[in-house]
Amino acid sequence: MKLPRKFFEPLAIGAPAPLRELPVRVERMIHFVPPHNEKVRGRVGDLARQVDVVLGNLEDAVPVEAKEAARSGFIEMGRAVDFGSTGLWVRINALNSPWMLDDVMQIVAAIGSKLDVVMLPKVEGSWDIHYLDQLLAQLEARHQVKKPILIHAILETAEGVKNVDAIAAASPRMHGMSLGPADLAASRAMKTTRVGGGHPDYKVLADAAPGAERAAFQQDLWHYTVAKMVDACAANGIKPFYGPFGDFSDPAACEAQFRNAFLMGCAGAWSLHPSQIDIAKRVFSPDAVEVAFARRILDAMPDGSGAVMIDGKMQDDATWKQAKVIVDLARQVAARDADFAKLYGL
Ligand code: GLV
Ligand code: MG
Repeated sequence: MKLPRKFFEPLAIGAPAPLRELPVRVERMIHFVPPHNEKVRGRVGDLARQVDVVLGNLEDAVPVEAKEAARSGFIEMGRAVDFGSTGLWVRINALNSPWMLDDVMQIVAAIGSKLDVVMLPKVEGSWDIHYLDQLLAQLEARHQVKKPILIHAILETAEGVKNVDAIAAASPRMHGMSLGPADLAASRAMKTTRVGGGHPDYKVLADAAPGAERAAFQQDLWHYTVAKMVDACAANGIKPFYGPFGDFSDPAACEAQFRNAFLMGCAGAWSLHPSQIDIAKRVFSPDAVEVAFARRILDAMPDGSGAVMIDGKMQDDATWKQAKVIVDLARQVAARDADFAKLYGL
């Protein structure tokens, strides 16, 4: 393991110093666009005003014959659009693919100073992060990129889940990670054909009196993995995300899945369809009633210690910390989104 003192040294002469803290950014939805589609590219300027992150997808869902067009289309849109405070991310092809090296080399050369985050698919262990970390440092130095480009891992292989702590701790360049339920299902030999969400047969059957009907409760297939990912991320000061929800015809299930992830600690999710942007906004911005209650806790305990009763509920140092998580997030959301600023009265 690297010595703590060396951990924050740049990996190439001339590369920017790694960040010690993640930039504070609201990233409720990572909105995927196919950059080889010219019509979509033309709308990215408008889109950037509606979403928190625009991500150009070069990996799965892009046909093999469009891989180069997606890469050059991403560079074109990166150059053409003013993203303001909206994040610009790219999902590159996997490390073992024939496209990954050119993806990174060409994109950092062309728009490295505008790029916030590289999303790396199919991460299996810290070694994958170390490789991209070094490569990015070399390219940042070569192309005089002054702000470190961050890495976001997709957790979508059984080996990756097993190594999730080491992945989260692999580099100060780590921004966070997303659950990739589709690839992960395949990697684990789960018997599903879905992109995220539940399955009607994954359930528990309640006990009942003899002869009485037994209630069945569907369970969350992703609970274990999301919990493991949240702990690995929180312990390392990086951000966990739910990934894709593929059934665009079922917004209620999408919202429920996103909400479970939010309540468990996730910062956002992917939006693959325009209809999922508002779902993510609604879910990953804290609830106004919760924000108001959290503010009452903070007001009642100005220094965060001791115990008070509010509406019959005991508050102490620990609930004060929970309240602070919610109010801090509400303030960040309010600073980005005028609708929520109004809703929260902030
Ligand atoms: C995302 O990439 C997934 O495999 O779910
Ligand atoms: Mg995948």
